[in-house]
Amino acid sequence: MTVSTAITDIGSLITNDPSLTSADNPLGLVRDAAVVIEGDRVVWTGATSKAPPTDNRVDAGGRALLPGFVDSHAHLVFAGDRGPEFAARMSGRPYSAGGIRTTVAATRAASDAELDGNLARLIAEARRQGTTTVETKSGYGLTVEDEARALRIAAERTPETTYLGAHVVAPEYAGDPAGYVDLVTGPMLDACAPYARWVDVFCERGAFDGDQARAVLDAGRARGLTPRVHANQLGHGPGVLLAVELGAASADHCTYLTDADVDALASGDTVATLLPGAEFSTRATYPDARRLLDAGATVALSTDCNPGSSFTTSMPFCIAVAVREMGMSPDEAVRAATYGGARALRRTDVGTVAPGSRADLHLIDAPSHIHLAYRPGVPLTAAVWQAGALVS
Ligand code: NIG
Ligand code: FE
Repeated sequence: MTVSTAITDIGSLITNDPSLTSADNPLGLVRDAAVVIEGDRVVWTGATSKAPPTDNRVDAGGRALLPGFVDSHAHLVFAGDRGPEFAARMSGRPYSAGGIRTTVAATRAASDAELDGNLARLIAEARRQGTTTVETKSGYGLTVEDEARALRIAAERTPETTYLGAHVVAPEYAGDPAGYVDLVTGPMLDACAPYARWVDVFCERGAFDGDQARAVLDAGRARGLTPRVHANQLGHGPGVLLAVELGAASADHCTYLTDADVDALASGDTVATLLPGAEFSTRATYPDARRLLDAGATVALSTDCNPGSSFTTSMPFCIAVAVREMGMSPDEAVRAATYGGARALRRTDVGTVAPGSRADLHLIDAPSHIHLAYRPGVPLTAAVWQAGALVS
């Protein structure tokens, strides 16, 4: 028989439940609430006074409970460290996509066990801060074997795997970018597609131009992968419009946007995923979330965790920066880190606390979700349930 557990006396419950959200209550917030979980699912939410009888009971003591964070953009399969590159940047050296090759060399040299150990450690680190769904990309192998290996390792730990063979042109193809695109859209895709759900491309000066990006995304689509795009991170470019045109699940970074880019994001289904850790760690200008939200775009917040431009697994950190620097209210930032991430991954089972959703829950040592931004840098996570199991 399935065991039922009620979490009661939740001072402030963020549901993102579409049947409870409204202009006045964008997070579907319920006060003095309870949540009942059975197996891996939420089966009931409502007032504590009305909670049905259950096998077990956990008293939240008036604290806030929210959906586990959905980190829809990370690069977690890698080896090596680029701390010195970060330090040099903080003393004035600019960020360039070229640093990716440093990690490529270290990743190729690492054993499967090292890569998996690093991945597991980062996922556990994220979970301790409330993250219950993580996407991760390849992109630090850049050979057929190393890209397929990265995705095979990643697929053992998350269903949200993204083929990013088109991260930068592999060093072996430095004089032949067209040859590298042929590899990425041919044999490398064949080897990677069985382990990937998504296809991504770094569409940026110094990486891949619009035509190359289109070729990569079209090839991925033909193999059943859904596009998402690294777009407009370092400058204006065609990435966002291409993402929307191809029906990508998300356009990620969105730091340099024209009015046409904003209009396209507001009118299409493509989620604008903002990655403040990258601007923080490259000392760059933050994306203007306010402009996107006011236009009506769906916004997600994610870590972009990677050893070069954003070595953080912390969604609370991203929320705090988004509120302080990007024009988001705490409500908007928390929604983007939960519901927005789920939309960016086209998931309806996560990012909400509602009957039928996966029981991914994050209890914080605070009376309100506002504290995630109000108390920056403070580890507020008190408990994390993932698919109904207490994991932290
Ligand atoms: O999303 N933009 C491209 N890729 C990563 C950076 C990777 C690196 O510097 O190692 C990003 O920021
Ligand atoms: Fe990225």
